[in-house]
Amino acid sequence: MQVQDRKVATKAEKDTTPARYAVMGNPVAHSKSPAIHKQFAHQFGHNIEYTALWADTDGFVEAAEQFRAEGGKGFNVTVPFKLEAFKLADNLSERAKLAGAVNTIRFEPDGKIFGDNTDGTGLVHDLTKNLNIHLRGKKILVLGAGGAVRGVLGPLLKQNPAALVIANRTVSKAKDLAKNFESFGKVEAIGYDDLVGKRFDVVINGTSASLKGEMPPLPVNLFANNAVAYDMMYGDKPTPFLEWAMLHGAKTATDGLGMLVEQAAESYLLWRGVRPDTRPVIQQLRKGS
Ligand code: ATR
Repeated sequence: MQVQDRKVATKAEKDTTPARYAVMGNPVAHSKSPAIHKQFAHQFGHNIEYTALWADTDGFVEAAEQFRAEGGKGFNVTVPFKLEAFKLADNLSERAKLAGAVNTIRFEPDGKIFGDNTDGTGLVHDLTKNLNIHLRGKKILVLGAGGAVRGVLGPLLKQNPAALVIANRTVSKAKDLAKNFESFGKVEAIGYDDLVGKRFDVVINGTSASLKGEMPPLPVNLFANNAVAYDMMYGDKPTPFLEWAMLHGAKTATDGLGMLVEQAAESYLLWRGVRPDTRPVIQQLRKGS
């Protein structure tokens, strides 16, 4: 009897100890990830705790180790730590290698650190599954050549677009990036001036201009018929790029909230082995904003 009682107590104790996950960044206080993962866990009845962890700009590795020591199972990585997370990982997924950055860490039972990057897959999922935009045979323009863009080029090229053009203010950065990805498909790198006269089916803003309320200098007549404008950023109101796109012939203009939820779902899959239903979560976040 006593033994049985103790067994029950141990099991109950186990069931009430949540599996710990987090998002680590700087800044990170306004991250929507804790709310997203809470809803994912609710879908499966999983007992998890997902928190936002702030780390000093030079304290990423220390913070990661501390989280592991406290029982963390894995965590998401956001600005400015994605390159450091890449370096920290013992093993990397193919898509993380391609991106040169890690946004998802999983602590393995053998003590190794596995690094993945779910950003590009998140973007492609949002475009193809949620927005029903098929990328095969389409002319895609990606604006920007920083870390955010690097993370999505591989998954975009896998969709076999007719063309993928990278435009950046600093053209040399776009050219370097295009070179890195040339073995995965045809990628062209140009400056904004060279966009005059060119038209695209899908234009993705991967610059950080929206954060400053700015947009890249784009020529009019950029959008082909039924074209889609997509901003990888999101906020309470449309970004300058999305506002401009609606005024200049884009059929639809969408922010990156869906991408955020989709990359989170891919992380959840990596940690928990199941992929959450993203639609109700995106709807809920849209209602809330
Ligand atoms: P992230 O990791 O978010 O991509 P990043 O590596 O600093 O950040 O890259 C920011 C990108 O946004 C770059 O492509 C940058 O262009 P440059 O490489 O020419 O600097 C682009 N960017 C930022 N502000 C911009 C603006 N106002 N207009 C156009 N491009 C801008």
